[in-house]
Amino acid sequence: KVDLKGRDLLSLHDFSPDEVTAIIELAGELKEKQNFKIPHACLQGKALGLIFQKSSTRTRVSFEVAMYQLGGYPMFLNTNDLQLGRGESIADTARVLSRYLDGIMIRTYSHAEVEELARYATIPVINGLTDLLHPCQILADLQTIKERKGTFAGLKLAYVGDGNNICHSLLFGCAKVGMDISVACPEGYMPDGEIIRLAREDTLLTGSKMEVLTDPVEAVSGADVVVTDVWASMGQEAEQNRRAGVFPPYQVNEKLVAHAAQDYIFLHCLPAHRGEEVSAEVIDGPHSAVWDEAENRLHAQKAVLALLL
Ligand code: CP
Ligand code: NVA
Repeated sequence: KVDLKGRDLLSLHDFSPDEVTAIIELAGELKEKQNFKIPHACLQGKALGLIFQKSSTRTRVSFEVAMYQLGGYPMFLNTNDLQLGRGESIADTARVLSRYLDGIMIRTYSHAEVEELARYATIPVINGLTDLLHPCQILADLQTIKERKGTFAGLKLAYVGDGNNICHSLLFGCAKVGMDISVACPEGYMPDGEIIRLAREDTLLTGSKMEVLTDPVEAVSGADVVVTDVWASMGQEAEQNRRAGVFPPYQVNEKLVAHAAQDYIFLHCLPAHRGEEVSAEVIDGPHSAVWDEAENRLHAQKAVLALLL
């Protein structure tokens, strides 16, 4: 058993393989409880603040419902409605919110701001996506892989596309559970060098393999899980046209997944752009697990909340 009470969830790099495994296992148990209507209101009397500086469908709704199902109270806070949006400091916001709430989830641009919030808050801070990382998404992805494949050992995950927040958190997540990962990104859109270095350290804990490539066919070859994400993330709208000229060879389509294992599954954090990073045949086809993946955001985050709060 692991004790995560009081911890922040800023990056999966900060969690041991046992801790990541425990979160995924609890996520599975809580999903069963929810499906069989077995009460699990372990956060009665607890309140979670949800600070959003970027749009969200899944993260917002799944966190709010998660708190509700755990017996707690979720409070949606748009940055523009907080004094934070008028220049109150992150440190002061953290100190004040810590006097009312039992936890804070934040989605924003700068990862450093989330680290600063966590430094000054005396309650757990959960990263609901930054430009650098999206750990909650990857916990749901790992839960989905475990459900579909039964194990992580011996599996290969291929991520094809932009070396972005999803790619970074996958590098950590795969290393922590001992799953091999091959990433293929265009030159100039590679994952962050420091993240690669830290994730390589993580692979030593489990003995998993990690490759960062430019060739999507090589990355997808024999993969059990194929993942992609948008070509232009939130905040990169101005680069959309330039990126649309670079990324087409990285589209996940029938031709590319022909190189994957016969029983591969396809994951995408959503929102998806059919005809851009993924073809409709793949995302709407029989190998796609994206709806289970989206559902698992709820269960994985319930596990995180139950353990941290
Ligand atoms: N996958 C994900 O985080 O979706 P939202 O942006 O809708 O929260
Ligand atoms: N990489 C995407 C993920 C959205 C959930 C973004 O940051 O916009």
